[in-house]
Amino acid sequence: MKLISAKNQTEMSRKASSLIIETVRSAPEAVLGLATGSTPLGTYQELIRDHSENGTSYGKVTTINLDEYVGLDADDPNSFRHFMDNQLFEALDISEQQIHLPNGTAENLDAECERYDILIKQTGGIDLQLLGIGENGHIGFNEPGTPFSSRTHVVELTESTRKANARFFERPEDVPTHAITMGIDSILQSQKILLLAFGASKAEAIKRLVHGGVSEDFPASALKRHDDVTLIADEEALALV
Ligand code: GLP
Repeated sequence: MKLISAKNQTEMSRKASSLIIETVRSAPEAVLGLATGSTPLGTYQELIRDHSENGTSYGKVTTINLDEYVGLDADDPNSFRHFMDNQLFEALDISEQQIHLPNGTAENLDAECERYDILIKQTGGIDLQLLGIGENGHIGFNEPGTPFSSRTHVVELTESTRKANARFFERPEDVPTHAITMGIDSILQSQKILLLAFGASKAEAIKRLVHGGVSEDFPASALKRHDDVTLIADEEALALV
């Protein structure tokens, strides 16, 4: 795993966006794996700034998001689809057909998971997967204990993850109990992985990732089995490394 340190969130976002922009400029038809949460927000802002200042085009990319809540449709202000539209897609030259997220309101959720895995394969696979990390080491919504062999699946969110995500919802009880997430193996199939972390709340997880062993108790440790992972983290997140 390659480690790049950044002074703060702003610098982390600039460095991350440069890597994404480079990817899209050298391969306009790149398949980008995208993430939600606070971590990639600054990176998305940098992509938008670069798109408007330098004209980097997203007209031919394909985007595949990691996860979506079960029960929330695309128009729901708390859905990840809505988040992505607001934080990134609406400001880029990207059309509906290029954008993919799991459908959290599908009638048959297992069939939806299968569809998503097939879709990823049909795109030729993800070229660059952007990831954040949960305080408990989760990636996507793969909670501790998730088999490393997992493909896209439905998960029951842990209390700690629901609590951490409650800040985006009006009332804590509105946080869905389940989500569809790309599995750990689905994530590991990506050509390159770009993991981001900032802030003191991620310091323990980053310490365990860098210094700890590989174990299903700590989902992010699976990334050590991939040979092209770049971790960009700020000084606070790296404080215990
Ligand atoms: C969420 C998301 C993850 C994200 C993580 C960290 O539950 N499903 O994709 O990386 O938790 O969130 P944040 O970036 O807000 O710290």
